[in-house]
Amino acid sequence: MPGTCVIGLQWGDEAKGKLVDILTEDHEIVVRYQGGANAGHTVVSNGQTWKLSLIPSGILRDNVVCVITGGVALDPASVIKEIDMLEGRGVRVEGKLRISDRAHLVFPWHVAEDKLLDGSLSGGEAIGTTGRGIGPCYRDKVGRSLAIRLGDLYRKEFRSRLEHIVGIKNQLLSGWQSSAASKPELLDAAAIHAQYMQYAERLRPYVADTTAYLLDAIEGGSRMLFEGAQGALLDIDHGTFPFVTSSNSSGVGVASGSGVPGRWIERVIGVVKAYSTRVGGGPMPTEQNNQISEHLRERGREYGTVTMRPRRCGWFDAVAARYTARLSGVDELAVMLLDVPAGLDELKICTAYDVDGKQTSHFPSHVDDLKKAKPVYETLPGWREDLTTVRSYDALPVAAKAYLARIGELLGRPVLTVSVGPDREQTIFCDRTAHEQKPWPRPQHRTPAND
Ligand code: GDP
Ligand code: IMO
Ligand code: MG
Repeated sequence: MPGTCVIGLQWGDEAKGKLVDILTEDHEIVVRYQGGANAGHTVVSNGQTWKLSLIPSGILRDNVVCVITGGVALDPASVIKEIDMLEGRGVRVEGKLRISDRAHLVFPWHVAEDKLLDGSLSGGEAIGTTGRGIGPCYRDKVGRSLAIRLGDLYRKEFRSRLEHIVGIKNQLLSGWQSSAASKPELLDAAAIHAQYMQYAERLRPYVADTTAYLLDAIEGGSRMLFEGAQGALLDIDHGTFPFVTSSNSSGVGVASGSGVPGRWIERVIGVVKAYSTRVGGGPMPTEQNNQISEHLRERGREYGTVTMRPRRCGWFDAVAARYTARLSGVDELAVMLLDVPAGLDELKICTAYDVDGKQTSHFPSHVDDLKKAKPVYETLPGWREDLTTVRSYDALPVAAKAYLARIGELLGRPVLTVSVGPDREQTIFCDRTAHEQKPWPRPQHRTPAND
């Protein structure tokens, strides 16, 4: 079966982009199926850094088709900017990119609503969104009556629909004008129409029915790579709600976002950093505000790819990552940024939470319980060696190997890829046969006899 997917198991920025770029070598099609320009995926090769937001991280390779499906919240200005950036730097995009006509479009009102709504929440309540209009775009998608999809731009009804929606959005924004500290500007339907007509012309060569394309391709045996955006702890249904993004960013989102049934996915790679980071609001039990977080932030250059905000940093949380590995049906793990914790005397891994005096390995379903969770740590020895030039598992320091082994043991999946620097070359592939992989529990079907 030909599908592989790459899923972040934490709060995003696990270095999914780097891994997707590497795995693209063995795949023919790379698919972005959820999220939008809130994502920032970095690829470093031959000393050049590429920051991608909507276009799959496979685009840097030749002989690959990159697909943005209908599950993505598509900001046309962002995707055009990215196409221009890539072509300006010598990467061919035309003929290699397909964008779904089902993708819901981000409009200026979405960005305005995002900033107004999140900005109206005080201190600990603010989600701290990326301000890219993602939540409002998905809200209109689910609400249906105020939504416009990419395919709608090419139909004659577009203008009247836009005018109708702008009328309603202006009423909403006028309400905000009287109450919000920052007064939102009212929308000009004619100007937006002219702008989006230009976008429509620019995007015309890329627009396709990607659901049909992907189904034909997968049934025909194409090797397909699904690039998750964000991380599973930000999943709208299974993450740390309401401090999440507005799509299914865990493994459960692959089928709904792409239209390719889960039965075609044979390999799910769960990506984690060797520690934890989070951007924006919401609880993070293992967060550190001390020399440890400084060490991780400075060595890992932990500043947001999209917003440049400093990322919150802390110890590896195995309770959270085990939960998301199970949720996403992960087969194997990739542990990224293992070079970053070098120089710390000891490393801690959170193996349980203490909630109201009771120890548990259960990841709480309510954010207030997660806020109360005090991490229970296991301490492992650190290492001083610089790992950035290490290219084999055997050459890693004993303490680093023990740390990786413990992560694999706690998450119940083998660590098969290790990253020791941003560059493609700074990657270690581990021997699959060295790991005894326990199968996930199979369903125990009840029969009248054993019921
Ligand atoms: P993504 O959103 O999951 O694709 O991750 P980001 O690109 O937002 O953040 C990961 C950052 O870590 C990027 O700046 C990468 O260049 C960088 N990076 C990736 N792998 C490694 C690694 O093994 N070590 C170090 N030090 N940096 C890495
Ligand atoms: P990649 O794909 C890290 C976070 C935001 C905020 C919350 C909601 O690069 O891993 P949104 O704008 O989606 O409504 O913001 O989700 N967030 C991310 N954090 N990496 C990302 O993407 C993120 N995309 C959204 O910081 O807390
Ligand atoms: Mg990122």
